[in-house]
Amino acid sequence: MSRLLVRDLAQVATPAPGPAPLRGRALADVDVLEDAYVLCVDGAIAEVGRMRDLRLGGADDVEEFDGRGRCAVPGLVDCHTHPAFGGDRVEEFSLRAAGASYEELHAAGGGILSTVRATRALGEDGLRERVELHASWMLRHGTTTWEGKSGYGLDRDMELASLRAVRVAGGSPTWLGAHAVPPEYPDADAYLDFVLAEVLPPAAQIADAADVFLERGAFDEGQARRYLAACRDAGLALRLHGDQFTESGAIPLAIELGAASVDHLEATGDAGVAALAGSDVVGVMLPASALFLGRPMPPARALVDAGAAIALATDFNPGSSFTTSLPLVCSLACTQLGLAPAEALAAVTVNAAHVLGVDDRVGRLAPGLAADLLLLDAPDWRYLAYSLAGDVVAAVIRGGRLASPR
Ligand code: NIG
Ligand code: FE
Repeated sequence: MSRLLVRDLAQVATPAPGPAPLRGRALADVDVLEDAYVLCVDGAIAEVGRMRDLRLGGADDVEEFDGRGRCAVPGLVDCHTHPAFGGDRVEEFSLRAAGASYEELHAAGGGILSTVRATRALGEDGLRERVELHASWMLRHGTTTWEGKSGYGLDRDMELASLRAVRVAGGSPTWLGAHAVPPEYPDADAYLDFVLAEVLPPAAQIADAADVFLERGAFDEGQARRYLAACRDAGLALRLHGDQFTESGAIPLAIELGAASVDHLEATGDAGVAALAGSDVVGVMLPASALFLGRPMPPARALVDAGAAIALATDFNPGSSFTTSLPLVCSLACTQLGLAPAEALAAVTVNAAHVLGVDDRVGRLAPGLAADLLLLDAPDWRYLAYSLAGDVVAAVIRGGRLASPR
C-alpha cells in the first residue's frame, strides 16, 4: 500500500459536493477547511480533514509532506488545448503587435496554415517530443488532467499522429479535423469528403471527442453539422469552436447535436446567452486567447447569472494563446470576466472535468477521487486567482505521488 499524508495545510479548498456541472449560485460553493490534511492511499484520496481529527492508527509506512504555509486545491483540469504543433508564431506575434489582424494573417495563408506546415515537417517522433514538452509545461502550472486537440496535421498521417501523441503524453485526444482547409483541397466540402472517408474511421479509435472551427473563413454551419454528425455517429463526444469572431450558428448547432461544449464565445450576444443557459451544453471561455488577440472578453457574468454551465481553459496554442497557465486564466476570470475566485476554481476543476466526462474521477478533493492536488505557495487558496502572473505553484501531486517539486 502506498500512503502519502499532506499535513498541516493552511487551507484545503474544493468545490462542494453535488451534481456536476455546477451552475448559478452553486458555482461559488467552495468548501474550505483550515489547518487541514489530505491522506492519499494507492493513488486515491482516502481522507480530507482537520489536523486535530487526524488518526493514523500507528501506521509507520506513511510518507509525509509538509504543507505548512500552503493551500491545497484539486489538480487543475485544462479542457481545451492545442498542444500538437511544430514551430512557433513569434514572427506573426510581432506583426500583430505592429497592427496586422489575426484574421487577415489567416486569410493570407499564415496563421493556422503556417503551423500546419511546421507540424508536418516534424514527423511523428518530433511531434511526440513536442507534446511531451507541452504536457510538462502544463504540469508545472498545476494541470493534472488535460484535453489536447489535433488540427495542425490536416492529413491522415499527422492527424492520427497528433491524437496518438496526446494519448501517450497522458491527455484526452480531441480530433479537430475541421480546423482549416489545407492547401491541397479546392474548398471545405472537398476537404470534408476526404477526412470523413479516410481519417474519421481510424481517428474514432483513438480520440474521445471531435471539434470543428465554425467561423467565417473556416467552416460554415452546414459543413460543421455534416462533420459533427458523422463524428457523433462514430461514437465521439462533440465540441465546437464557436462565436470567436462572429455569431455563425454555433450555439444552436451545439444544442441541436447535444455537444459537450461550445468554446470561445467572445462574440456571443443576449440570445446566445439565453439559449446556452437553457441547455446542457457547457460554455467554455478562454480569456487568455481573447487577451492575446486583443478581442472582447466573453459574457461570462451574464452566462453564470442566467444559469449556464461554464468552464474555463487556456486554449494553449502557438497563434492565439501561448500559455499553459490555468492560474493565469483564473486571474483573468476575476479581473476581466467578473467572476469570483470561487467561481473560477469550479470552472477549472469540476466543471472542466465534466466537459471531458471525468467528473466522477477528478475535479474535487473528496474520498474516492484521484489523489490529484495542487499545492499553492500561499496562505489563502484565493491566491490561485489573486496572483496576476499565476506564479503560485509550490508542488503538484498526481495519483498520490509528488509530480513536480519546485
Ligand atoms: O482556438 N480559433 C481557432 N483555433 C485556435 C487558434 C489556432 C491558431 O491560431 O493556431 C483557437 O484560438
Ligand atoms: Fe482553441
